[in-house]
Amino acid sequence: MKIGIVGAGHVGSTAAYTLVLQGIGSELVLVDQQPALAQAQVMDILHATPFSHPVHLRAGQYADLQDAALVIVAAGVSQQAGESRLALLQRNADIFAHIIPAILRYSPDAVLLIATNPLDIMTQVATRIAVAAGADARRVLGTGTMLDTARFRALLGQHCGVAPGSVHAYVLGEHGDSEVLLWSSASVAGVPLSQFAADRGCSLDAAVKAHIDQAVRRAAYQIIAGKGATYYGIGAAIALLSRCILFDERQVLTVSSVQDQVQGVRDVALSLPQVVGRAGILQTLYPPLDSLEQQALAASAQIISEHVAGLVL
Ligand code: LAC
Repeated sequence: MKIGIVGAGHVGSTAAYTLVLQGIGSELVLVDQQPALAQAQVMDILHATPFSHPVHLRAGQYADLQDAALVIVAAGVSQQAGESRLALLQRNADIFAHIIPAILRYSPDAVLLIATNPLDIMTQVATRIAVAAGADARRVLGTGTMLDTARFRALLGQHCGVAPGSVHAYVLGEHGDSEVLLWSSASVAGVPLSQFAADRGCSLDAAVKAHIDQAVRRAAYQIIAGKGATYYGIGAAIALLSRCILFDERQVLTVSSVQDQVQGVRDVALSLPQVVGRAGILQTLYPPLDSLEQQALAASAQIISEHVAGLVL
């Protein structure tokens, strides 16, 4: 199946590279406002195909996205050291006003996978443009807190000596500073995490929880300060999400999409556990939250909503 990737910078090219290594997609088209960059990324990744999987990979224009099943949008300006994701907002909204209609013109039936920050707001902007063009809102989704959930699970697994994939813990809300770590429902094989940790003799006191919370919440800032951008974690998340969509895997992933109402906030895009398949969002789940988590999710939804309200579209 054909996958389009708009934006051949760090994230888009790493996503393309990961898709090739994992053999996801038979045809990849890389589009960028700098054609020379797209062409160079394609050449570099093509040289990896003899060591991985054959794929029809090329640089192109929007017209080359014709009939793509999935289009990954990683175009836009990215965070500089110390810059919040929300600071990118109007610049990237202006970019989306041009690229989303161009994508839909040639691939009106594609699922749009948004990876541009500020992720939730860009997902909402893309959804508004797509729905205005007659598309189904459920076919627009963003990587959301997939990466944050992965970071949370990796740190909990490291702390408690168990594989991250065996830790069921979720991060909801904004992919950003107001994200919500669900400690109350975290578990291992149905055993509450607090009990599992106690049985393993690894403390999960308030200080440890605060440390893990900050490590998840501030991970991107720390990586950007050291290397200028993040792309391996998000690239792998995009590849898994792409596979889940193309192969209709119906995994439950904390992806971002527009919700009618969350904790009293209407018409807001944020991450909840959602069933993802070939048609995009198939079902949204509402896990139990304790009172602090409910308040934090409401605050996260409100922050996103206020920033969308300030947008000039
Ligand atoms: C991060 C970027 C993708 O969290 O927002 O690494």
